[in-house]
Amino acid sequence: MTYFGLCRAAGRLLRSARYSRSRLVDDRVRKHRAFYAPLLIGLSVPLVRILDGGVRVLHQREWEERERRLYHDLHDASVGVVNGTLILPVLPGKSLATWLEDPDLEEPVRMRAIDRAVAALASFHRAGFTHADAMAENVMVDLEGGAAEWFDFETVHDEDRTMTWRRADDLRALLVTCLLRTARERVAETLRRILDVYHDAEVTRHLAEGFDSVWRRPLALHLAQAALTHERYREIGRLLKERVP
Ligand SMILES: Nc1ncnc2c1ncn2[C@@H]1O[C@H](COP(=O)(O)OP(=O)(O)O)[C@@H](O)[C@H]1O
Ligand SMILES: [Mg+2]
Repeated sequence: MTYFGLCRAAGRLLRSARYSRSRLVDDRVRKHRAFYAPLLIGLSVPLVRILDGGVRVLHQREWEERERRLYHDLHDASVGVVNGTLILPVLPGKSLATWLEDPDLEEPVRMRAIDRAVAALASFHRAGFTHADAMAENVMVDLEGGAAEWFDFETVHDEDRTMTWRRADDLRALLVTCLLRTARERVAETLRRILDVYHDAEVTRHLAEGFDSVWRRPLALHLAQAALTHERYREIGRLLKERVP
C-alpha cells in the first residue's frame, strides 16, 4: 500500500473515534462527551504530536470556557453547563457540508453557501480567533438570513504556531471539506472562489506549500477531515501552485 493509502486508512480510523454527541432539546443544542472521552483525548495528545498536527483537543473545563467565550463574543449568547453537558443556542440554517451534499442544490446557491462560510471564517480570523477544526461540518450557513456561523470549538491550535500557519490550517480544512463534496468539473472554479473570498496572499502561499508533497507527517490527520483521493489531492496541489507564482 502507498503512503497516501496508508494515511487514508489511518484517517478513517481516526475519524471513527467519536467522543461527543449533540442533540436538539427544547430549542437548545445539548452537547456532551462520552465517559471515555478523557481517555481518547489523552491518547490523542502523543498521537497528534507524532503526526505534527499543531492542534489539541481541549479538556472538559477548557472546552466549556472556550465555547462560552466564543458564543459570547460572536453571538452575544450564553452557554449553560449542566453536569458537563453544554447547552448551546441553536444557530439557524444547515451546515455547509449538508448544503453541499444536497444533489439538487443549484450551482449559484452552492457557491453562495461556500462564499458565506469563507467570509465568516475570514471575519472570525480578523477578530483574532482561529478554529483548529474548520471543516464544512462545523459551519452553519443560513442562506435566507445571508449569514454563516462557525461552531464546535473543542479544538485549539498550538500556541507555538504562527498566526499565518493557523489561518492557513483553517483555510485548508475548509477547502478540502468543500472540494470533497464538489463535482470534478467544478473543483478548479470552487478552489479559486474560496481563495478569492478569503483574500490573503500570505495565507494562500502557506496553504500551497502544505500541498507540495504527500510526504508530510500530518497527512493522516488531514485525510481524517476529508478523505480525498490521491488524484484529487494532487490536483488541489497543482491548482494552488498556479495561484502562487
Ligand atoms: N449551536 C448549534 N446550532 C445548531 N446545530 C448545532 C449546534 N451545535 C451543534 N449542532 C449540530 O450538531 C452537530 C454536531 O455538533 P458538533 O458541535 O459539530 O459536534 P462534533 O464534535 O460531534 O462534531 C452539527 O453538525 C450540527 O448539526
Ligand atoms: Mg463538529
